[in-house]
Amino acid sequence: MVHRPLKKSLRPLPALHDDWLERIGAALKNKKLDKSRFCREVLCEIAYPQFVAHYETAVLDPKLPIGTRLALSALDPHHITLEPEYYADVDDEKFQRVKPLLWLWYSFDRLAAGGQNVELGVRFRRLLAPHIFKKCGENFKAFQNVEFSYGYNIDCGDDVVVHRHVLLDDRGGIKIGNKVSISDYANIYSHTHSIVDQKDVTNATTVLEDGVRITYHATVFAGVKVGLDSMVGAMAVATKDVRPHHVNVGIPAKSVRVKPNAPSTTPDRLSTSHERGEKS
Ligand SMILES: CC(C)(COP(=O)(O)OP(=O)(O)OC[C@H]1O[C@@H](n2cnc3c(N)ncnc32)[C@H](O)[C@@H]1OP(=O)(O)O)[C@@H](O)C(=O)NCCC(=O)NCCS
Repeated sequence: MVHRPLKKSLRPLPALHDDWLERIGAALKNKKLDKSRFCREVLCEIAYPQFVAHYETAVLDPKLPIGTRLALSALDPHHITLEPEYYADVDDEKFQRVKPLLWLWYSFDRLAAGGQNVELGVRFRRLLAPHIFKKCGENFKAFQNVEFSYGYNIDCGDDVVVHRHVLLDDRGGIKIGNKVSISDYANIYSHTHSIVDQKDVTNATTVLEDGVRITYHATVFAGVKVGLDSMVGAMAVATKDVRPHHVNVGIPAKSVRVKPNAPSTTPDRLSTSHERGEKS
């Protein structure tokens, strides 16, 4: 394989980016910020600038097409519903606190200024994440179309990268260590349903320890601990814990190797009964 690190610098981008992000960052520092109004105003400015000055009257204006009024109304998080609001176990107080910023995050991803506009998007989400997660470390990087359940149940270390279209279902909590990478279209779950009664839900914290890599389209089930510096291969389904430094692939994911840089004390592959396919 060829070592191909990311480029350190890009073509210069318009100063507008810095100015806009500075304004967002300053607003978020205000502990008394009305987050719903903030979300609405930020979205209105970039999606429907012609309505910024008279948003409230426009939403009620019968002369405007009803679809336009609906679109304007939906900029206000009070007027939309997110799926977790249906869950019986949601902490409504916590969720209502983060909902405006989740809505801003998701809505930004659907606009021309947002979505695949990588540099702006990564810096924007880095500003939002600490106000949504339970804890967010330094240098957090999220690409477009990441989705959460509650958001407030994520405990995230430093230098974490979350790629596009990842689902972080933090219903039972997700603990992410330092230098963790979660690749495109991966799903990390922390809740599960009984096979008898779908309404019987078990929440269990899922843990991704330091240095873990969850690769493309992989799924990690609720309550699984993915051990230090281990890897879950493309399309794998991790139904059980992944041991430190192991590479687990397939459905259900099993160890195919220990990483060559693992400490010499790391136990070999196929040393658990689960991995040998034995019934417990
Ligand atoms: C995890 C991964 C890197 C493992 O690669 P590796 O250690 O070089 O493993 P190998 O290619 O030697 O494969 C070992 C065995 O597992 C199988 N295997 C490898 N990846 C697999 C996968 N994702 N699903 C099922 N089986 C897989 C191989 O066919 C091979 O089987 P065999 O021994 O019967 O021939 C690779 O599976 C993977 O998922 N790559 C995704 C892309 C990537 O690199 N992502 C990382 C950053 S985003």
